[in-house]
Amino acid sequence: MFTSTKQCYCKLILQFQHKLKQTSKQASRACSLKVKQIINEPLLEERKYDETDDETDSEITFRFKDLTTTLCNPDQLRAKPDVADLKFGHVFTDHMMKVFYHKKLGGWQKPVIIPFENISLHPAAKVLHYAVELFEGMKAYRGVDDKVRLFRPDLNMKRMNRSAQSSGLPTFQEEEMIECIKRLIQVDEEWVPHSEASSLYIRPTFIGIDGTLGVHQSDSALLYTILCPVGGYFEGTKESVSLLADPSYVRAWPGGSGDKKVGSNYGPTIRAQKKANQKGLQQVLWLYGPDHQITEVGTMNIFLFYKDEFGVKRLATPPLTGLILPGVIRQSILQLCEQWGEFVIEQRTITMAEVINLQLSDRLLEMFGSGTAAIVSPISSIEYLGQTIQIPTTEHQNPLYRRVREELKAIQYGHIDHPWAPKID
Ligand SMILES: Cc1ncc(COP(=O)(O)O)c(C=O)c1O
Repeated sequence: MFTSTKQCYCKLILQFQHKLKQTSKQASRACSLKVKQIINEPLLEERKYDETDDETDSEITFRFKDLTTTLCNPDQLRAKPDVADLKFGHVFTDHMMKVFYHKKLGGWQKPVIIPFENISLHPAAKVLHYAVELFEGMKAYRGVDDKVRLFRPDLNMKRMNRSAQSSGLPTFQEEEMIECIKRLIQVDEEWVPHSEASSLYIRPTFIGIDGTLGVHQSDSALLYTILCPVGGYFEGTKESVSLLADPSYVRAWPGGSGDKKVGSNYGPTIRAQKKANQKGLQQVLWLYGPDHQITEVGTMNIFLFYKDEFGVKRLATPPLTGLILPGVIRQSILQLCEQWGEFVIEQRTITMAEVINLQLSDRLLEMFGSGTAAIVSPISSIEYLGQTIQIPTTEHQNPLYRRVREELKAIQYGHIDHPWAPKID
């Protein structure tokens, strides 16, 4: 009895919906002429684009000169937290930068700085289904002279364009993007912490947004940048990190995308990171191949400082063969050490067997990770196939990792005037 009443209601609803559909079809036929006329008119955004951009290169790049800024109302401005208590990536500044790409509208649109807001996406957006997403991680530092500096933003933007190419997203002129980011930082300048233990993290992000299923190149994309103040990486924690090296987890492989900063490289690493944490270890040491080559540590590049059998000091790091991300800090360390000319520098394959051999023969000096977040992160131990290898990185008088970190910080915080750290005036 209950079921048949329910069926009866359903039927009534369906009939009603059908009637509504019929009426709206008639109505839409009646106004189809009008709609056609409107469709033939250029869209609002297209019209704006045609009016102001007389150059024909919008496919190639957006332009800083077209950037417009809409500031928050005073009541929208948020209180700035104490950076010492900040968890990485939890608090964002008041504004963001956005620029759309729409192939149908001629390519890149005009960049805008607007109050920080949520983004609205079509449920079929490519980013949500096929991980068409890439990002960058860079920082702005308030120097001793109160001037705000970036650190080698050109390298981040080059890497971003390479990630874009590999994801079928459009590229842009790097200098134009850097200028837009600089302006965003100027707008939110008071968010750049007044302390050498902290900085403003910059997260340029690029996503495919076409609302169509199917693994195809995106015809619409959104490039945006958000900012968050970050505290000292090691504040309140032990400086050196313990690692889990488990050959059953692989981060990247030849011919893959390990050398691109695409989101799809990161999500699948959480499982291994969780396993390391369950064992009381902090990071994953990513291995590759039957000879267990060391490739990266967590989301950092890795360095090995050691003495060879003749007592000659050498600094080794894995080569850029597609398995590792070409880090900005990695490149900077290699260049600094090259200038110092005090030891041999090698970009070559390093295996776990070699690490164990060096440690057993007392020739392993230091191992450290490098990346924008921590700059340099010393390694204290590696758990590998049931044994724990102790690394004496922090046990030396004047360790290399600390010297490198101090030198890079001196550049970033303006103690040394350096072309790697352009000022935002
Ligand atoms: C996988 C991976 N390796 C290395 C790095 C270090 O790169 P960078 O020195 O440019 O911060 C990062 C951080 O971006 C990373 O995510």
